[in-house]
Amino acid sequence: MYALNRIPQSRAANRRFMTRVSHLPGALTQPNAADMTTNPKTDALMRRGAQFLGSEHAIMCGAMSWVSERKLVSAISNAGGFGVIACGAMSPDLLDNEIAETKKLTAKPFGVNLITMHPQIMELIDVCTKHGVGHVVLAGGLPPKGSVDKIKGSGAKVICFAPTLALAKKLLRSGADAMVIEGMEAGGHIGPVATSVLAQEFLPELAEEHLVFVAGGIGRGEAIAGYLEMGAAGVQLGTRFACATESIAHPDFKKAFFRAGARDAIASVQVDPRLPVIPVRALKNKGTELFTAKQREVAALLDGEGIEMSEAQLQIEHYWAGALRRAVIDGDIENGSLMAGQSVGMVKKEEPVADIIAELLAESEAALSRR
Ligand SMILES: Cc1cc2nc3c(=O)[nH]c(=O)nc-3n(C[C@H](O)[C@H](O)[C@H](O)COP(=O)(O)O)c2cc1C
Repeated sequence: MYALNRIPQSRAANRRFMTRVSHLPGALTQPNAADMTTNPKTDALMRRGAQFLGSEHAIMCGAMSWVSERKLVSAISNAGGFGVIACGAMSPDLLDNEIAETKKLTAKPFGVNLITMHPQIMELIDVCTKHGVGHVVLAGGLPPKGSVDKIKGSGAKVICFAPTLALAKKLLRSGADAMVIEGMEAGGHIGPVATSVLAQEFLPELAEEHLVFVAGGIGRGEAIAGYLEMGAAGVQLGTRFACATESIAHPDFKKAFFRAGARDAIASVQVDPRLPVIPVRALKNKGTELFTAKQREVAALLDGEGIEMSEAQLQIEHYWAGALRRAVIDGDIENGSLMAGQSVGMVKKEEPVADIIAELLAESEAALSRR
């Protein structure tokens, strides 16, 4: 007698199991795809998002400047998630090379994250088009005029960030195919509102008709299950993946993450009211103070040399790019920027991406099964 209540753990075992029981009375002769997997409840809730991304699971690894390069991005996509290259301040030539190298490491889909204030954004879009990148994520502000149409004209999907519901609706009307809502628990540049609040504001209004991915502060699968049940199409994580085995981040950068707790990941403060800087969440170190000094320097330029506000903000962003590089690549964890979200306390050791994804899915599945 087959023990119908014993669920096989691996996918191959699951398939063998379904074949064996398919002749029994009452057995599903045509099980749907979700029933064939290890995590049927999670997969069923992720199906829309996964179909949109072209991945096995609707788990995106959010672009992280310097960290989300060919190795991590391909590892995420190969493990069934959706990797996203962080273009950051790259030139079109550098992005061209990065995409080409990533394609050598994975045949699975991946996306490219472009920062909207990049002065060469249109050329960067051309590079994505040349490579047939399927998904372009526009981050860091409102998409510049013509950018959404240009991306869509190439056949690619556009994913945007929306800080408010009104803006999300506007972006969706102007052609965005999916939204990411990212709460202030996240690592890197953040908005002022918590993920839990954004989810309650956006999902009931948008999730039925649109694809909304939830990001910020997600460290375990139980949280993923919760957002999926609220209607999210999927999730985006950064901090949990930053120290994966496949991440090229410096060993000292990773060690700083393993040591840190949630309250060590703090948001930067704006020191001059004339210079609106987007807060950045990072582990507190000497670099936190250096940023204060940098803000004063740029504010003085605004006064003295009369530089434009856009130029001032670009200088701040260049500062972050440099500071993050110092920590991620050079391992200068004192002076560099250790961008990390509050979920950093749940990053305890270096693990392969596939294990992290499997663990998140198992936690989500267990939570959904208990309901
Ligand atoms: C080290 C680091 C660098 C990041 N760099 C970028 C970036 O270049 N562009 C971007 O859109 N988001 C960036 N992010 C945000 C992530 O893409 C992602 O949305 C965020 O990490 C999700 O929240 P979590 O950290 O709580 O998982 C960064 C996050 C971290 C931790």
